[in-house]
Amino acid sequence: MIHNELHETAKALVAPGKGILAADESDTTIQKRFDTIHLESTEELRQAYREILFTTPGVEEFISGVILFDETIRQSASDGTPFPQLLAARGIMPGAKVDHGLQRLALAENETVTEGLDGLRDRLIEYRGLGARFAKWRATYSITDELPSDYCIWANAHALARYAALCQEAGLVPIVEPEVLQDGTHSIERSYHVTSRVLDAVYTELFDQRVDVFGTLLKPNMVLSGYDAADRAGIDEVADRTLECFYKHVPAGVPGIVFLSGGQSDEDATAHLNAMNASGPHPWELSFSYGRALQGHALRAWDGEWANAAAAQQAFRHRAKMNSAARTGTYTPAMEREGAVA
Ligand code: 13P
Repeated sequence: MIHNELHETAKALVAPGKGILAADESDTTIQKRFDTIHLESTEELRQAYREILFTTPGVEEFISGVILFDETIRQSASDGTPFPQLLAARGIMPGAKVDHGLQRLALAENETVTEGLDGLRDRLIEYRGLGARFAKWRATYSITDELPSDYCIWANAHALARYAALCQEAGLVPIVEPEVLQDGTHSIERSYHVTSRVLDAVYTELFDQRVDVFGTLLKPNMVLSGYDAADRAGIDEVADRTLECFYKHVPAGVPGIVFLSGGQSDEDATAHLNAMNASGPHPWELSFSYGRALQGHALRAWDGEWANAAAAQQAFRHRAKMNSAARTGTYTPAMEREGAVA
């Protein structure tokens, strides 16, 4: 097999002990996050918050890459250093969220398709010029007794593969993110079934569209009981069912699976990843690309004030360290007390 830069980048993003920070909240999503601390989302505050995260001392030990929103990849730190250069200088790879978000899927009820393919080739070239080494595109699927439809599954798989092929042409590693949302009352069995169908379609389309899976990463949901289910599966069952699903449906050539946290508590997201790695080795690196589960404590500690920057950084570093431990199956809940911020 001929190794190329995409393979090396993908492997570096899942280097031992490291994972990805998803800091690519769109303007609408970051406003929702800021709402939780009663803060209006202004460009200045978004820049300040991201600067605090990106300059966290020592975090490069645990973080290999950061996914940035379009606004952020063009912003600079207070000293004038563009964010992508600031991250790269610390050995952290910058990446870009390149989809244009969810739209209602035509002739379907309560289903979405992700848009953003028009003009994508040129935008990828621009992001690469700004310093991005990888990209992200997120599709979502809701679970009910009837949904997702095959139509939704295949329309999104097709778009994910078109995005991934364009990324590889532009020299960017595509993070392929099919997120089966875990809201609702569904059983873990139903989550397993839907996630299986979704992954099957995604890898069929990636193959048909000539994508080299060695130069990709998968960013999936874990297989969970619905958040409102009466009887929710515990940590070991989640780890077992998630692994079983991926062993059946994700090619061994994929270098890494970087989970999203998807609304799990910080500790659950860490414990699930830890349990999966504890039963390794597996064909792929199992890592994290968390948004909320890395930032929740940090956001609350910051509370919109520069004076709280050090406390926010301590909170972020702590969560990054816990998830780094989960990469080797050596995390224990007792570790939460060391260096944690309330
Ligand atoms: P969460 O970990 O908060 O789900 O965010 C990850 C992400 O990038 C969603 O697209």
